[in-house]
Amino acid sequence: MNGVARGRCSVAEPPELLDSFGATFNGQCFRQLIYLDLTLACNFDAIAETGTFRGSTSLFFAQNSGGAHVYSCESSGRNFEFAKRRLRGIQNLSLSKLDSREFIQRLDVPRQARTFFYLDAHWEESLPPREELDLIIREFKQFVVMIDDFEIPNDPGYGFDDYGPGKRLSLRDLSFIVTTELHVTFLRGLRFKNRDIGEVQSFWRVVA
Ligand SMILES: C[S@@+](CC[C@H](N)C(=O)[O-])C[C@H]1O[C@@H](n2cnc3c(N)ncnc32)[C@H](O)[C@@H]1O
Repeated sequence: MNGVARGRCSVAEPPELLDSFGATFNGQCFRQLIYLDLTLACNFDAIAETGTFRGSTSLFFAQNSGGAHVYSCESSGRNFEFAKRRLRGIQNLSLSKLDSREFIQRLDVPRQARTFFYLDAHWEESLPPREELDLIIREFKQFVVMIDDFEIPNDPGYGFDDYGPGKRLSLRDLSFIVTTELHVTFLRGLRFKNRDIGEVQSFWRVVA
C-alpha cells in the first residue's frame, strides 16, 4: 500500500505534518526569543532536552546553539525512530532512546560545563521533572533549566500540568528548588530584560 491510513502516525508521512504540539516550544515564539537571549548571554557549552517527541525543538536548538552540542532523549521507540529519521545528518545533535533520568545521569558533558536544560519529558501522567531537577542540581555546577508546562504563580490563566496534589508542575509541589543557591524566575512570555540576564550570569544555577 502506497498511502498511509488517515489519522495514523507513521514515519512515512512528512514529519512536519505530524507535530501535534505545533513546532518549536509548542509554537510559542516568545519562548524562542527567551532561549535566544539566554544563548547569547550565557554562551552555553551544551544543551540538553528531555522529551524529543518529533524533534522540532531539538532542531531549533541545533540550529541556534551558538556552537554548543545538543543532546535530546526520548523514551518512546516510535517517537525516537521518527525523530532520528527526521534529524539525521545534523552534526551537532545526538539523540538517545532513554528515560530522561538515565539520560541526565549518563550525559556526556563535563559537570562544570555551562549547560542549558529544557525539561519537556512530561506526558500524560509521566511527570519526571522532580527527579530530573534533583539530578541536575546534584550533578551539575553551572546550568539554566527551562521547564515546559510549569505553573506561573498568581496567573490562573496560564495553563500547567496538574494531575492533583503531589503531581503538579508547580512550586507548590517542587518547592525544594527555591534555595539561596538557585534563582527561580517566571518569564510569562516576556523577553529577558538586561537585569534578568545579569542575574542569570551571576547565579549560573537558574530555573527559568
Ligand atoms: C511534550 S512531548 C515533547 C515535545 C518536544 N520537546 C518538542 O518541543 O517538540 C513529551 C515527550 O516526552 C516523552 N517522554 C515521556 N516521558 C519520558 C521520559 N521519562 N523520558 C524520556 N522521554 C519521555 C514522550 O514520549 C513525548 O514524546
